[in-house]
Amino acid sequence: MIVGFIIFWALLGLGVFFVAMRGGPRGARRSLHTESKVGQRLVVLGVVVLIAFGLVVPALVLAFNGEHKASVAVGGLHLTAAQQKGRDLFAQSCAVCHTLAATKSVGRTGPNLDIRVGVDIATPAGRRGLVEGAIAEGRARGLGQMPARLYTGREAKEVAEFVAAVAGH
Ligand code: HEC
Repeated sequence: MIVGFIIFWALLGLGVFFVAMRGGPRGARRSLHTESKVGQRLVVLGVVVLIAFGLVVPALVLAFNGEHKASVAVGGLHLTAAQQKGRDLFAQSCAVCHTLAATKSVGRTGPNLDIRVGVDIATPAGRRGLVEGAIAEGRARGLGQMPARLYTGREAKEVAEFVAAVAGH
């Protein structure tokens, strides 16, 4: 998409350049005085094309870009809707205490989850289990205090899904 856009503008620029080179200032003036029907139509067409590609395409790109980016996490991972929800929930209640690259959080009260979940635990199911367990029970194993049940039910699952998917990336 972006590449096509750049190529289009490069070609357009080259086209304008060659027309200018062939006609020169005098040629341009002459053709201005003897505007033909075809010439007028070409100008109208040119304006339409310019508006289409100069305004409409960027507007579309802007409009759909945000939506698209919402599902992209670190390392080009694509998040499911549940994982995206989990990301928001994590940012709200977990990021203050935990470091996790995917949310750019740098909390230092609790363990770094990129390591504790992403490196230490091998399987996705194991990662989900650890996070769900920590949320349900809380933790106080001598490394500090983590309150129990910051989330319950579906929200707890969504956070666990998210952390399991991104930890260590
Ligand atoms: C008030 C700070 C705090 C908050 C908020 C917090 N945690 Fe923790 N978390 C900790 C601490 C401290 C530990 C380590 C406690 C210990 O082992 O004694 C921990 C441990 C963990 C562990 C590792 C458990 C293990 O057995 O190794 C995971 C996973 C975890 N937290 C996930 C989360 C998630 C997900 C959230 C958000 C729902 C969250 N934490 C919110 C402080 C916090």
